Amino acid sequence: MTILPTESEAASVELAESDHALPQFHFTPPSGWLNDPNGLCQRNGSHHLFYQYNPEGASHHRIHWGHAVSTDLLHWRDLPIALVPADPGTGPDDDGCWSGVIVDDAGIPTIVYSANHDNRQTAAVAVAANPADPDLVEWRKDPDNPVIAGPPPEFATTQFRDHSVWRDPAGTWHQLMGSGLVGRGGTAFAYSSTDMRTWAFDGPVLVGDQWDRGETDPWTATTWECPDLIEMPRMADPSESSHEAATHALMFSAWDEGRTIESLAFIGRFDGRSFTPTGLQRLDWGGRHAYAPQSYLDERGRRIQIAWMQEARDDASMREHGWCGCMSVPRELTTLPDGSLGVDPVEEVSELRRNEEELLVGFTGGTASATTGAQLDAEFVVDLGHDLTSTVTIDLEHGQGETTRLTVTAAGEDGVEVVLDRSASTHEQGADTAELTMAVPAKALFGTALGLRLIFDHSALEVFAGHRAMSARIYPSAPQDTRVRVDAHGGARLRSGSVWTMESTRASGRVLRP
Ligand code: FRU
Repeated sequence: MTILPTESEAASVELAESDHALPQFHFTPPSGWLNDPNGLCQRNGSHHLFYQYNPEGASHHRIHWGHAVSTDLLHWRDLPIALVPADPGTGPDDDGCWSGVIVDDAGIPTIVYSANHDNRQTAAVAVAANPADPDLVEWRKDPDNPVIAGPPPEFATTQFRDHSVWRDPAGTWHQLMGSGLVGRGGTAFAYSSTDMRTWAFDGPVLVGDQWDRGETDPWTATTWECPDLIEMPRMADPSESSHEAATHALMFSAWDEGRTIESLAFIGRFDGRSFTPTGLQRLDWGGRHAYAPQSYLDERGRRIQIAWMQEARDDASMREHGWCGCMSVPRELTTLPDGSLGVDPVEEVSELRRNEEELLVGFTGGTASATTGAQLDAEFVVDLGHDLTSTVTIDLEHGQGETTRLTVTAAGEDGVEVVLDRSASTHEQGADTAELTMAVPAKALFGTALGLRLIFDHSALEVFAGHRAMSARIYPSAPQDTRVRVDAHGGARLRSGSVWTMESTRASGRVLRP
């Protein structure tokens, strides 16, 4: 059933669509608030993207599960809201249906999510009302929710929410819930069940203080949101031999006292009960701008991940524009030769490319693209040689005196440093323009030639280098005037460079409550 939009709902969509910062090929809500991707799965060819959604305004309040489907990971079709919070006092999720996943329970698509009441979360379940419906439009909450009523009482916990769910070969269900132990760090609690309704507590799989933090390791913070335990994905390059040390990755989002810090992954081994880490890495170097990622195996066996690119605008600006939050482009996770996780855009993203402009190659000076646009994809291969003074800068020249600058510098024998300077990227008051830095062990892994890719969409910017990702939000006043300038300094050379405009995929005529 399609509910006709009220006048104010239509006005709210129009307001969002009038904002020149609204991305056109990154998934956004019709208007209102979006945060985490949820329930990611592919069934009968359709990819399902559910998401934390407040249709009532650009603020995090009484969160629903928005729903969209796609057959190509590029174009998304809105479907009716899948989960709506209960009326006040009538259910454990009356203050919001928070993040969760979808699994197949003997043919019945089943959601496991966090029911929010009074800022405390419990685990709840909902099933597809019609499992044969390819769109999975209608969902029924279990009348006996919650299925896990709170954190294990024997632990002093920080927060408690979010789910990773799988079935072992013997048929037993397992679930992780994100949490933290006071004074010890983040954790993921394990539970098991035979029927998805009664869950036995099996203990923490890992606690932050069990990792001996090295000098360059990120802080894993006090709460792990959105745990996602996976088997290591396929190798980035199938000709490489597989790395024996790590069999699993425990991905999570590091949270501290209301601060969403960044998304991380422990690499290691999971024996069914506990996770023994051998490494810790970032999943994205843009901090909170690629938060709460969730992953799934698609029908081709790819491990696909989507992250929430939260805004860098202040709250007043988000409310004024009537929308906030977009998803990253879908990314593929792979295993790199050193056993870590690689992150790259799925190959489908390149299908949006139009109007290739090849930039001059093999030179050490600079050039700017003739192509301008608010939707660009730019790809370079740069050679930094062994000269520690070599640098490549890539500027997004937005006009109006606004520029976003990416600087790539040789940083010693094994790596390069990629720095994103957003300090001049916008005149918008209150926007977070902090510098972002990514370390890429490029030389060890890829020789001296480094592939760089920038995907720009009005206010969303994703940088990929050496199978690593750095996401950011930027707010140029006239994004459509953006052109790409590249300069090679010192011993650096530009081996190749191309700029494309990118097609829009955002559907028109969207409504708040499809
Ligand atoms: C992560 C998160 C989750 C929670 C959801 C609420 O961004 O805080 O921990 O389930 O968002 O919207």
